[in-house]
Amino acid sequence: MKKLFAVIGDPIGHSMSPFMHNDLFSFYKMDAYYHPFQVKLENLEAAVKGFKAIDVAGLNVTVPHKSSIIPFLDGIDELAREIGAVNTVVNEDGKLVGYNTDGPGFLEGIKLYVSSLNNKNVLIIGAGGAARAIYFTFLKNGPESVDVCNRTFEKAQKLVEESRTSVSTKAFSLEEASQRLPEYDIIVQTTAIGMYPNVFDQPLSPSNVKKDALVCDIIYNPLDTKFLIVAKKNGAKVQNGIDMFVYQGALAFEKWTGQLPDVERMKQNVLKQLGGTKC
Ligand code: ATR
Repeated sequence: MKKLFAVIGDPIGHSMSPFMHNDLFSFYKMDAYYHPFQVKLENLEAAVKGFKAIDVAGLNVTVPHKSSIIPFLDGIDELAREIGAVNTVVNEDGKLVGYNTDGPGFLEGIKLYVSSLNNKNVLIIGAGGAARAIYFTFLKNGPESVDVCNRTFEKAQKLVEESRTSVSTKAFSLEEASQRLPEYDIIVQTTAIGMYPNVFDQPLSPSNVKKDALVCDIIYNPLDTKFLIVAKKNGAKVQNGIDMFVYQGALAFEKWTGQLPDVERMKQNVLKQLGGTKC
């Protein structure tokens, strides 16, 4: 029988995941189908019970359900628990188990630019859900330091205090972090600032980045945010959010099927989709 995979969120209409995963199922000749479902927060528990009852094979979970879904699952892996958010659910012998592939997806993506995190000083801009996923994943992968800066300093401080790690980690205000930009080898912009239609906004100006630092923005609409344009002008290598999006999907696909998919194919598909739609 055809296996059902789904993504749940609210809204969900613009998700590119159905396009990406259905293409993979047909490419690998798998008898499976991936469908988007809009689920209101008040219906989340019923929806999860329903998916379990019909033996769904796997789920992706997106805004606003990534944290709220946790109590309704049968289990959750350690990284997802630390992050406090699930973006992938796997049906393991009838039990719905939650994982987070956002952080690991980001990390896979930057391997295209950096071979090792040894001796690397990392700065994360933002302290929301996306920042948490990337922050806790970095801490597990041995960089020299991981600092966090945020408009609301207390939120960055709280995140840093939550971590139990031997890696050096500090919290800064955006202003302080701006002064310290030349210290960092990898800088990751995790807020929605600069996303279409506010394409001239940036959380801080990366005009004093270290030459050859890697500057990433997890936004992919537009592909070149103001933040990346300024960083590139100042000598940095830059990476937009496409790789993270594609790799989080690839890692979810691998968890569901055991098959690590052709990431380049996924990337070209997503780029084609982005070119053809106005979000
Ligand atoms: P997500 O789950 O996508 O990361 P979120 O949890 O709502 O979204 O977090 C949004 C992040 O963007 C936060 O770090 C937020 O900063 P605050 O904690 O100060 O709210 C940041 N952010 C949102 N709008 C901002 C703005 N205009 N300037 C600077 N930071 C902003």
